[in-house]
Amino acid sequence: MVNTLSVSERVAQLRESLARHNHAYYVLDAPTIPDAEYDRLFAELQSLEQAHPELLSADSPTQRVGGAPIPELVPVRHAVPMLSIRTETDTTEQGVFNFDTRVRNALGLVADDGPIEYLGELKFDGLAISLRYERGLLVRAATRGDGETGEDVTHNVRTIRQIPLKLGGHPPGLIEIRGEIYMRRDRFEALNQAQRERGEKIFVNPRNAAAGAVRQLDPRISARRPLSFFAYGIGDYAGFDLPETQAGLLDAMGAFGVPVCEHRVVAEGPQGLVAFHAHIAGLRNTLPYDIDGVVYKVNRVSLQRTLGFVSREPRWAVAHKYPAQEELTELIDIEIQVGRTGALTPVARLRPVFVGGVTVTNATLHNEDEIRRKGLLIGDQVIVRRAGDVIPEVVAPVVERRTGAERSFVMPAACPVCGSHAVRAEDEAVTRCTGGLFCPAQRKQALLHFASRRAMDIEGLGDRLVEQLVDGAIVKTPADLYRLGILALANLERMGERSAANLLAAIEKSRHTTLARFIFALGIRNVGETTARDLARHFGNLDALMTADEGALQEVRDVGPVVARSIVEFLSEAHNREVIEQLRAAGVQWDESESLAPASDRLAGLTLVLTGTLPSLSREEAKAMIESHGGKVSGSVSKKTDYVVAGSDAGSKLAKAEALGVKVVDEAGLLVLLGESPETAQNNTE
Ligand code: IVH
Repeated sequence: MVNTLSVSERVAQLRESLARHNHAYYVLDAPTIPDAEYDRLFAELQSLEQAHPELLSADSPTQRVGGAPIPELVPVRHAVPMLSIRTETDTTEQGVFNFDTRVRNALGLVADDGPIEYLGELKFDGLAISLRYERGLLVRAATRGDGETGEDVTHNVRTIRQIPLKLGGHPPGLIEIRGEIYMRRDRFEALNQAQRERGEKIFVNPRNAAAGAVRQLDPRISARRPLSFFAYGIGDYAGFDLPETQAGLLDAMGAFGVPVCEHRVVAEGPQGLVAFHAHIAGLRNTLPYDIDGVVYKVNRVSLQRTLGFVSREPRWAVAHKYPAQEELTELIDIEIQVGRTGALTPVARLRPVFVGGVTVTNATLHNEDEIRRKGLLIGDQVIVRRAGDVIPEVVAPVVERRTGAERSFVMPAACPVCGSHAVRAEDEAVTRCTGGLFCPAQRKQALLHFASRRAMDIEGLGDRLVEQLVDGAIVKTPADLYRLGILALANLERMGERSAANLLAAIEKSRHTTLARFIFALGIRNVGETTARDLARHFGNLDALMTADEGALQEVRDVGPVVARSIVEFLSEAHNREVIEQLRAAGVQWDESESLAPASDRLAGLTLVLTGTLPSLSREEAKAMIESHGGKVSGSVSKKTDYVVAGSDAGSKLAKAEALGVKVVDEAGLLVLLGESPETAQNNTE
């Protein structure tokens, strides 16, 4: 028989172990046990607590799930005010020296006095929060508010897994940990995608999404918004041995199990901060979360005390910002672009605006539903965002700026390029031109795709050339490319005899290809590079593929009813079959045994891990390429990993690789490993 004491012991043991695994998973990003094992321990704790309600306590991991909604947010007075920091207006490196000069002058130092020690941190773009821990237990979480009085958001903050309900190590009697709640960019994208699918409101940026989640009245909603946290300071405390430096304070908070950002530097004098500023500027796009700058702080707490405050801002800290990732501009017009499969895509024409380090003049609006969901009108002032390496996006109109002259966008009923009917299938968001290859826009895109590097790889056949070839009715189908003569080409604009000859040579060279590339080059809807390769492997030759029905096609790995239907539809079109015949007649050929063999064994015995977004290859494509060269792709980094291929927004896997000393390459580096020089790896545009 189990007595109460041993039940309470077991409960304590389970709570301690779940908190430890939680910390490893959410803070260290290094899971210690399989999810199923965690779930089992969790379920055991839950059932013990249910059977012994007297043992329930607020710091139990079972108490994170959102409780009942509250009627309103209650004001909280901060025992120690939450101040803000001054922003250095000079965004160049001079800004660092301005700060150093101000600090030195305030301390009455002269040149001979030696450098001041600073700490460089990131300036997280989220919302400030104060977490009050008494005897190690989280008792209250409050927003900054006006700095004196914030709002009690404990009910929501308890749902954030990165925030410990109970501090680890040897927590003091009282400590208020201050920091920033933020949302990672990938989580933000996923949240918006889910909102879109449910037809709900789209969030403007991760900061707004995070702030909205924290201020929810219903913690169950908040619990579904994936939030993170970094600590950067403290408020009230008692029984705490205050470290002598800001760096020491961060370490102490880390030791309590609170997330502290790894990107920080201790610098002797301003020079090290200049380097930090530049280093982080280079890193900014690859960080998984938004920052709007860096923060410099005088490291010694005693010096911070001496420096004190001016007009409620500390003299010992400053924010040094990077160029904004969001700007305001005018939505001049919405134009329609026609894609390879006939999709009519609305594109925003914008008054040029410098944002996120580039000048943006247009941005895709995806489809008409998206325009409606965002409530955009032509002529609106809009917020344009470009964070990380992601493509620029029109996020929202500024409704207050409307003059009444704005007008709504209407999807055209006909293709603006060829005049064919435009139709929107009931279950689709996209409107399509029905013109097929009759439509010059579709023809151009189809040719560009056919010639692209991973399809037939015809070097030099780019946008402008295709434009001229199609507009001049010189080329109608891909097969026409193989009939081109030097005369027809040399007469084109900006085309000398020499480049004409080079192009012909490239076309000639492309006659010898592989079945997989050929299938991919056809541009069948829903057939990407990986599917094309699977089809080539499965059927071995083109005739077998051309006679396969939907059932036979679905026997191919990863081919479902939608893909099978696309293939059958494409191959049952007489003009598509004709183009295929003409291509074969023009001498396009491949070695049939080749489709079964790996492309090379360059990567034989090597294990690679992919992380982040690569600039041109999709995850699938990169995986297929690695495998076709005999390599293995694994989902997690270990000492046995040979290479980590990192793109933008690479997160914990990259950090782990660096920690383990595993070699890290980017996409260009991967192509070198595969024996493709990055020069030829660029897209086929002029
Ligand atoms: S220190 C007394 N450090 O920026 C100094 N703030 O205006 C208090 N922030 O409201 C702030 N990253 O929300 C500090 N590493 C960092 C920060 C940071 C972001 C935010 C914070 C504050 C605002 C400053």
